[in-house]
Amino acid sequence: PDLHLIDHPLIQHKLTLMRRAETSTAKFRTLLKEISLLMAYEVTRDLPLKLETIQTPMATMEAPVLAPEKKLVVVSIMRAGQGILDGILELMPSARVGHIGLYRDPQTLRVIEYFFKVPEDLSDRDVLVVDPMIATGNTAVAALYPLKQAQPRSLRFLCLLAAPEGIAHFHREHPDVPLYAAAVDEKLDERGYILPGLGDAGDRLFG
Ligand code: PRP
Repeated sequence: PDLHLIDHPLIQHKLTLMRRAETSTAKFRTLLKEISLLMAYEVTRDLPLKLETIQTPMATMEAPVLAPEKKLVVVSIMRAGQGILDGILELMPSARVGHIGLYRDPQTLRVIEYFFKVPEDLSDRDVLVVDPMIATGNTAVAALYPLKQAQPRSLRFLCLLAAPEGIAHFHREHPDVPLYAAAVDEKLDERGYILPGLGDAGDRLFG
């Protein structure tokens, strides 16, 4: 399975701060943004570059720049994906952005789509889907199907925390989509929350 653990010490430390129940909403937001910057660095490692002729104060040179016709598309799964999106946009301000609104029915844990808006021309682009949590995996799995239909050049998923059950579900349905996570936790509770986890990311970010 294509699971990439990004367990840099800075990420691990910040994630621990996010887990602590006493961490405030303001602090939680800042930490998620900082972790997202650090993870984005790893996730974008193979973005295509091209050479451009530039002038330094000393000389002319051929220098690498991100291939501009292929701007990355970051798709945020609402609501909590916004926290990661904010971090990534700080690093890549001209990335394109999509939003998918999905929530888990608290009774059935079934995924209900309430919003779907992504850039039209995904076919030639690299797409990165972001959501802090993969619990049952239902949300991630559901979000990826319509994106696959748009046939992006590449598709990958970035989360902070995942449960083993969710990862297995993800890999079963989307074995072709690389999954990046900062940590894999122990299990799900009977309500489908990650244990020990960090609680409900959306609630901790937005209240
Ligand atoms: C959380 C989380 C994921 C989903 C993960 O969102 O941000 O989107 O649950 O659970 P799953 O893997 O079992 O589908 P939530 O439904 O709480 O919505 P919110 O972000 O709007 O609070």
